Amino acid sequence: MMRQECRRCMLSQYQPPRIDSPRNTKTLSAKTITTPGLRSFSFVSCPRVQQRLAVQKKNYLSRRQTSRKVFQVHADVGPVTSVPTSVPSEADKDLGPINKPSIVLDDKLYSYLLRHTREPKILRKLREETATMRGAVMQTPPEQAAFLALLVELMGVTKGIEIGVFTGYSCLALALALPEDGQLVACERDHVVLQVAKRYLQQAGVAHKVDCREGAASATLEALLEEGGNAQYDFAYVDADKRGYAAYYEQLLQLVRPGGLIAFDNMLWKGRVADDEVNDKQTVAIRALNADLLEDDRITVSTVPIGDGLVLCRVR
Ligand SMILES: C[S@@+](CC[C@H](N)C(=O)[O-])C[C@H]1O[C@@H](n2cnc3c(N)ncnc32)[C@H](O)[C@@H]1O
Repeated sequence: MMRQECRRCMLSQYQPPRIDSPRNTKTLSAKTITTPGLRSFSFVSCPRVQQRLAVQKKNYLSRRQTSRKVFQVHADVGPVTSVPTSVPSEADKDLGPINKPSIVLDDKLYSYLLRHTREPKILRKLREETATMRGAVMQTPPEQAAFLALLVELMGVTKGIEIGVFTGYSCLALALALPEDGQLVACERDHVVLQVAKRYLQQAGVAHKVDCREGAASATLEALLEEGGNAQYDFAYVDADKRGYAAYYEQLLQLVRPGGLIAFDNMLWKGRVADDEVNDKQTVAIRALNADLLEDDRITVSTVPIGDGLVLCRVR
């Protein structure tokens, strides 16, 4: 049987149907799926890509439903994007009245937010290069990077840790916010993307502030502890493999000083955490960590609905 790598997800085990069978010719041909409001994708029918598209489509439709509801409610006053209800749905009655819920961002308002986000030119350049690369959607969004940079300035961070560098967008934003003598230990296991990050750190003149450590993050954190890093760090940003978060948390609780901050990205996980029908391993892991953090009296915790959901934990 012919082996072929899927063009979109690089699933190497993917074995397309044999070409010689007329019955299979149809399924082998490239298909185009158009999701309203999203790009059209041409792909060979690989199961992993199909599954991903189905999730994207489901998320898109539920977002569209929410924003339609919002626009209808506000038809008289023009488009306003917060859902103005003080009455929780029947299932959420136990939450009590929601007098002023968080704003819901539609595309127009999100563009406005981006136009009012400060982004140094070098970060914009990196964002554009990242957009041409596989996995671009993993990049921290500009407004979130600006928020993290603000926290670093506010807290006067001099020693930080980042888990999950990718092409370096958040890493560079954090490095720019650090003082001249600041140090960020940046953990990344992928050699190729790390080279992009290093190139931009050089270009921005902040490479001396970043200690890039290539390899599994858990091993790097263990090494930091062995190097005497106990309670030596002010700040940590975690944006890597979701199933590793709980273990990173325990290591970071040792590395980050009392009063320091541990920030976890993707904790609202594109809404999947709130969808009972989604029970893949990553979603289950994030859900469990959210539940544990809520009960953990070693920290003060707050979930910020920015990007894909940012959980901030102040170490007590
Ligand atoms: C979501 S991306 C990080 C995005 C980055 N913060 C940014 O703003 O562009 C996650 C990164 O974590 C890396 N990663 C995943 N698991 C890892 C691990 N166990 N150790 C180190 N890096 C890991 C991946 O290679 C990937 O580049």
